Amino acid sequence: MKLSLSHLAVLPLALAAKTCTDNGPQDPAPYKLTVTADSEPLAKLSEIFAAAGKNVSISDVLDSGNRDMTSSTPSIGNGNPVVHLAWNSGDVGTEKWLPQGITSSADGDASGKWEGRESWIVSWHQDDDSNARVSFIDRETNKYRHVYLVRPDDDSFGSVNVHAGGIAWYGPYLYIVDTGVGIRVFDLTNIWEVEIGDGLGKQSDGTYVAENYRYVLPQLHYYRFSSTDGSSFRHSYISLDRSDDPPTLMVGEYQTEDSTVDIRFVKYPLNPETSRLATDDEGVVGASEAYCSNFLRVQGAFALDGKIIISRSNGGSTGGDMFNWTPGSAATSHIGWFPPGNEDLSYNPVRKEWYTVTEHPGTRYIVGYDSF
Ligand SMILES: *[C@@H]1O[C@H](CO)[C@@H](O)[C@H](O)[C@H]1NC(C)=O
Repeated sequence: MKLSLSHLAVLPLALAAKTCTDNGPQDPAPYKLTVTADSEPLAKLSEIFAAAGKNVSISDVLDSGNRDMTSSTPSIGNGNPVVHLAWNSGDVGTEKWLPQGITSSADGDASGKWEGRESWIVSWHQDDDSNARVSFIDRETNKYRHVYLVRPDDDSFGSVNVHAGGIAWYGPYLYIVDTGVGIRVFDLTNIWEVEIGDGLGKQSDGTYVAENYRYVLPQLHYYRFSSTDGSSFRHSYISLDRSDDPPTLMVGEYQTEDSTVDIRFVKYPLNPETSRLATDDEGVVGASEAYCSNFLRVQGAFALDGKIIISRSNGGSTGGDMFNWTPGSAATSHIGWFPPGNEDLSYNPVRKEWYTVTEHPGTRYIVGYDSF
């Protein structure tokens, strides 16, 4: 049975409390995610858009790229990026949208490519978190297109009010963290072309619009966090670890102090057959690994072969720090590794590269590295 939201709503809300007593590996048993049923409105809308010839693929979105990223080397950051791309002038400076999460086609598929192409997806939240969007970037041409995130509702759709602090692509799904809730999942086999116009959702004339964006990506379901130790969890960033068998999604917490709150990394196993998290008959997935740490201001992390690579930000004008940590041992520090505003991380096992995005207006890049 899949739990519906109404069942979950009667559970007591957990209060934040510090559960970590030492840093390093912890018992993962307290941490669980419970999936909601797949959206029925999504299935209904899917038929409508497919019948109208407006269900498009990721390749279609890449081919429609209407903006260009340009090669530009950040002036701050000593990590020697091998990828350094700046957004176009509108996106680099806008105060309305902030880039947060990054994932690549090497997360999506073990070959490194999706529909034969290498691409990145980057998430952005609106300044007040009232809406979110993702950019699809073609790695070969550096062209990109923004796609609006929507939540299907009846025969229409509405806003996705999420901070979108981290994203991970796995198979046909885009996993997006929702800070206090858990993980939202978007269906990459349902990208819909809408009419260009103001407003969001179905209009009185029967057409669909999305704030002048050409495409929308709908939410399929979500995983709600619960714990048996009374702790809440800040789902601040997420990454895929293909070096685990089965692969896992790792989520982690951003905190600005560690005396009263936990700073944890928790992994949940995926089911490679379905590309969904490995749930039991009740729709519950138990964590497979958990780690306590004392790294402050962590904006992103990825795990590989038992190591965790960590992205710590230091404000808008100072470069961010990278830590290479094997839980149980001391971390290696790389101070000033990133340009200012480093965020979520994503590892590419095919190219042996890893990526972040930087968030502050004027200094917004995709940067990638081939060492850590
Ligand atoms: C929509 O397109 C995707 C490919 O991007 C495909 O997998 C899916 O089956 C299509 N949906 C429908 C209802 O035709």
